[in-house]
Amino acid sequence: MTTVLVTGGCGFIGSNFVRHLLATDPAVHVVNFDALTYAGNLANLTDVEGNPRYTFVKGDVTDRDAVRAAMKGVTDVIHFAAESHVDRSIQDSGPFLKTNVIGTQVLLDAAREFGVKKYVQVSTDEVYGSLGDTGLFTEETPLHPNSPYSASKAAADLLVQAYQHTFGLHAVVTRCSNNYGPFQFPEKLIPLFVTNLLNDQQVPVYGDGMQVRDWIHVLDHCRGVEAAWRSGKSGEVYNFGGKCEKANLHLTHLLLDLLGKPKSLIKYVADRPGHDRRYAIDCTKAERELGWQPLVPFETGLRETIEWYQANAAWIAAIKNKDYLAYYEKQYGGR
Ligand code: NAD
Ligand code: DAU
Repeated sequence: MTTVLVTGGCGFIGSNFVRHLLATDPAVHVVNFDALTYAGNLANLTDVEGNPRYTFVKGDVTDRDAVRAAMKGVTDVIHFAAESHVDRSIQDSGPFLKTNVIGTQVLLDAAREFGVKKYVQVSTDEVYGSLGDTGLFTEETPLHPNSPYSASKAAADLLVQAYQHTFGLHAVVTRCSNNYGPFQFPEKLIPLFVTNLLNDQQVPVYGDGMQVRDWIHVLDHCRGVEAAWRSGKSGEVYNFGGKCEKANLHLTHLLLDLLGKPKSLIKYVADRPGHDRRYAIDCTKAERELGWQPLVPFETGLRETIEWYQANAAWIAAIKNKDYLAYYEKQYGGR
């Protein structure tokens, strides 16, 4: 049997990935290794608890002993665990360097020690920096990370490639654009805006709102990571994107329309320091070499995502409690 160690499986993308893999591959056992930080939520995977092919281990990827203990019997590693929010990395980069860089090093060492067959590093298009009005990120685009978050992810990517080159570890790196879908922590644009609007609260648009992001449904990303794991060539990088560029302000208007809310709920706030202007992805390599392509049309995926948040008020309420609101106001109140 294939036993896959999925790190960060209680987060947004990791939990969607664990559910996807268990549902589509009856020959796989998943060990979900997660520290349960503020972003990790056991409630994201209640439906797979009790599945004999699923094991949860609470542990920190920077804890060498805990990682080594979890690695016994593991054949493959898919590394999602990270500090993932750009704004938090601007407030305090410490946890980003620790988890994203040192955590990756600890995992790579354990993967070598335990003879792991394949290692997948789940990374981000943000390592490429920012685009002007035209052009796309390819796998050949030089790395130019601009935020502490993306710098920590770029460092981790380079470490993975160094281990692949030096020690012959079978390793691939995936770089994806902005994900949306169910179970996303309500600090990122789409879940924050949807959950605020459902309560008739304002939505904070940074700067002029004309920054552009490429949006991809989380399940399309999960299928991409799976394809890179199964068929990716060691040492290669694969970009994934949704071919769906949207300016933040246009996306905000779309959300207001879909939820039937007035434009007066838009609150223009100070810009994010060092804000990347535009991301856009060339994913032809993944299409050509992995037979992958994004399948979920944005408007369909967005409607379904809104419906999911509407149907899961208890999930939101458990997160958006007094502590969350106090933290959020303290950190981001001025912007
Ligand atoms: P998330 O913040 O929702 O989840 C992160 C998970 O990692 C949580 O369950 C958390 O508990 C866990 N974690 C954090 N630190 C840990 C540690 N030290 N040890 C063990 N577990 C720890 O993140 P996400 O949005 O699901 O992103 C997952 C991965 O995908 C990240 O590596 C991120 O860089 C990458 N990525 C995200 C996006 C996106 O749009 N969200 C796009 C491209 C790539
Ligand atoms: O591109 C992939 C990356 O996408 C991932 O690597 C990151 O983990 C993920 O968080 C995401 O990063 P962004 O910074 O692009 O996502 P976020 O949802 O935080 O912001 C999206 C855009 O919306 C960005 O231009 C900032 C803006 N924004 C965000 C928030 C939270 C606002 O205008 N207001 C907000 O309140």
